Amino acid sequence: MDRIAVVPGSFDPITLGHLDVIERAAGLFDVVHVVVVHNPDKSALLPVAQRASLIERSISDAGFAGNIIVASWSVGLLVDYCEDVGAQVLVKGIRSQVDVAYETPMAIVNRNLAKVETIFMLPDPAHAHVSSSLVRQVAGLGGDVSPYVPTAVAEYLQRR
Ligand code: PNS
Repeated sequence: MDRIAVVPGSFDPITLGHLDVIERAAGLFDVVHVVVVHNPDKSALLPVAQRASLIERSISDAGFAGNIIVASWSVGLLVDYCEDVGAQVLVKGIRSQVDVAYETPMAIVNRNLAKVETIFMLPDPAHAHVSSSLVRQVAGLGGDVSPYVPTAVAEYLQRR
């Protein structure tokens, strides 16, 4: 049986921290689905389709293995997507105690809903301070975000 994982998130936009987690998940599982989820609790910078397209570009530019699928999900529970693709595991990056507090209830609910396990992955320390919200703020105020995001994202944000 293939070991299939889902790396979900808003990815608004994808950062180097996300890319690190995706690469490491792809090394641990047979197939990894990177799923852009519309999070109604957050006001978005980029449309979901654009976020997915930037993830595709970033993965291709980084030359990652071919076992990564990029998708988006906006209807229903994330565990429904997991069930549809036969994924047993969610992989989430955890940078701090704040992330642990945010992610723990979701991990418990997802396991209760559909026996989907969540694995927390510590970031590479080089990316431990990087977040999409920080990138959105710096980019919005005209700052250079190239140290924090893949080149495709930096170029896209600069063009905007
Ligand atoms: O990058 P984010 O915004 O922290 O990701 C959060 C996300 C999108 C993974 C989370 O909000 C989510 O799983 N949403 C899907 C809706 C769902 O299944 N909710 C119930 C279980 S938590």
